[in-house]
Formats: sequence, structure tokens, C-alpha cells
Amino acid sequence: LFLKAFSQELVIPNWKTFVTDMKYHFQQVEPLQDGANASYIPVLQQADPEQWALSICSIDGQRVSLGEAHLVPHTLQSVSKPVTYAMALHREGEAFMEEWIDVEPAGRPFNTQDLDPDTQRPFNASINSGAIMAAGILASGFSSSVNWKHIVDQVRKTWYELCGNDLDIGFSDVTFESEKETAYNNFAIAYNLKGRKGLPRNVDLHTMLDVYLGCCSIEITTEALSVAAATLANGGICPITGKEVFPASVVRTVLSEIMMCGMYNQAGHFAVEVGLPAKSGVSGALMVIVPNVFGFATFSPRLNSKGNSVRGVAFCRRLVDSYRVHVF
Ligand code: DON
Repeated sequence: LFLKAFSQELVIPNWKTFVTDMKYHFQQVEPLQDGANASYIPVLQQADPEQWALSICSIDGQRVSLGEAHLVPHTLQSVSKPVTYAMALHREGEAFMEEWIDVEPAGRPFNTQDLDPDTQRPFNASINSGAIMAAGILASGFSSSVNWKHIVDQVRKTWYELCGNDLDIGFSDVTFESEKETAYNNFAIAYNLKGRKGLPRNVDLHTMLDVYLGCCSIEITTEALSVAAATLANGGICPITGKEVFPASVVRTVLSEIMMCGMYNQAGHFAVEVGLPAKSGVSGALMVIVPNVFGFATFSPRLNSKGNSVRGVAFCRRLVDSYRVHVF
């Protein structure tokens, strides 16, 4: 990093100016009060809605965090989906994944029961049906005697590697328990998947759901999440450790998929307005990838009607207005 800095070869050469700009946009977004916390479980409903954090990490490992909440652990929720999918894809390969999960925008809310009418597959890995299936595929690669917690620990380990190893990745038992108590719709999705096409290698349905809900309950900070975003921006190589966490081909598929499907059924508008692969979660977390330049994460619990963080999306719009990062 220092050698590159001295020879002016960093991907963001004028880092100070960039940070000053980011601070300005961060502060401009802060007064937004629209939207509301997710309310289906107490732990999300009770989160302080004023929390607002932004962390950025370039593919050279230049980093900055803004807002006091950047070290507050929050659950990944749906931000977990692309990584669970990437792990399954890495292990099983494109052909196997394609057999079980399509890569088409759904045009439906994330919790839809609908499957592709011709093939009975989930439309993509970013909606719940596809993410539950991806959790099932991951679980199907383990022996049936292996407990869900062990599988979720493997996922946590992968997040740890994506985040550069020095950052704590936790697990929220209270979130997991509440999720499980209220997961009627996810149970219905799982039974529907099993009843229509069946499950890969006849994996246990309850293990599949526990792995899915466990991945949603992994805890992370915005600071750590920005490093994971940078690893994806860097083709799967972590800018902090230099370790390849996923091959570039896996990252390419996953980023293409979240570009089309990562922002629920606001994904189309987000692609037009912001033009970057991103994944949001109902905790108010958002992970955004600027391919080959940097990754960033925001956290603000108030969600818009589509389930995306209001301030997070507003920040992305401002970023694209002042920097030419829209991929088109
Ligand atoms: O599956 C659920 O209902 C929750 N764990 C919500 C996950 C989430 O962030 C919304 N999903 N796309």
C-alpha cells in the first residue's frame, strides 16, 4: 500500500478529497426520517432508527468509516444471500446451481411463494425461495449428521475471510430464535420447494431452514462489511489479506445476479439510478460494490416500502451524481 501510495498508483489517488466528498454526502443524507424499521421481529423493531454509518474500503485497502454506528454489530439478514450463494456455487459449480436456482429477475416481492412455472425453480438466489434453496444446496454438501450450526459457522468463517480476518463476525441468537418463531412464510416456501421439484440430495428441510435463518442472523459491523464489499469489488481477493476467498468467475456470477435482483423489487430502479451491484437486508444494512475500485457498506434501520434502507439508497444516488461509478 505504501509503495503504491508513493508512486501514485492507488485506485483512488486523491483519497483525502474523496473522503471529504463522502463526508458531505453522508451528512446530507443524515436528516432523512422517512421509512420505518422492520417490525416483524422485536430485535429489528427496537433498533435505534437514528443510527447511521458508512464505511468504505478500496481494492488497495484504503479505508474510512463515518458515523458512530460503524462499529455497532447488526445482522446481515438478506445481505447474507450472495455469500451463501457464492459458497454453494464455488463448491457445486454452475451446472448444478443452474439446475436448482435460476438467475432471472423475479419482478415479485422477496417473500413470494411463486416459482418459475415451467421449471419449478426459484427465480434467483436473492429472493427468499432462492436463498433457502442455496442454503439447502450448501447443507446438502455436508453429511446429514452435521448440525446446522456447524454449517453456519462455515459461512461465518467465509465472511471472516471476506472481511480481512481481523474483524469479529458474530451471531445473534436472539435474532435467530425470533426469526424461527415467525418464519411461517419461509416454512411455506421450503415445503413448496420440497413438494414441487424436491430438494437437492434430499437434504433435510429443517436443516435447510435453520441454515438460511442462521445466515440471516450473522452479525457484522459496517466497517467489516465494507471490506467484504471490497473483496467482491476486487474479484474475490481480499484487499487486506491478499487471500483469494472466491474465484473471479464465482464473483462475476454473484455480482451480475445482485445487479439484477439484489435490491428486492426496487432492483430495476436501483440499476437505472445507481447502476451498481448491491444487496440490502431488513436490518437496514446495505453492501454496494463498485467493480475494480471500491466497496462500501451503510447501516440505517429505516426501510422504504420495498424493504431497502432509505438513507442507504439516498447515499447511493448522491454518490452516483458526483462520481462516475454507474457501470454504464
Ligand atoms: O427471511 C426473512 O423473512 C428475513 N430473515 C428477512 C431477510 C431480509 O433481509 C429480507 N429479504 N430479502
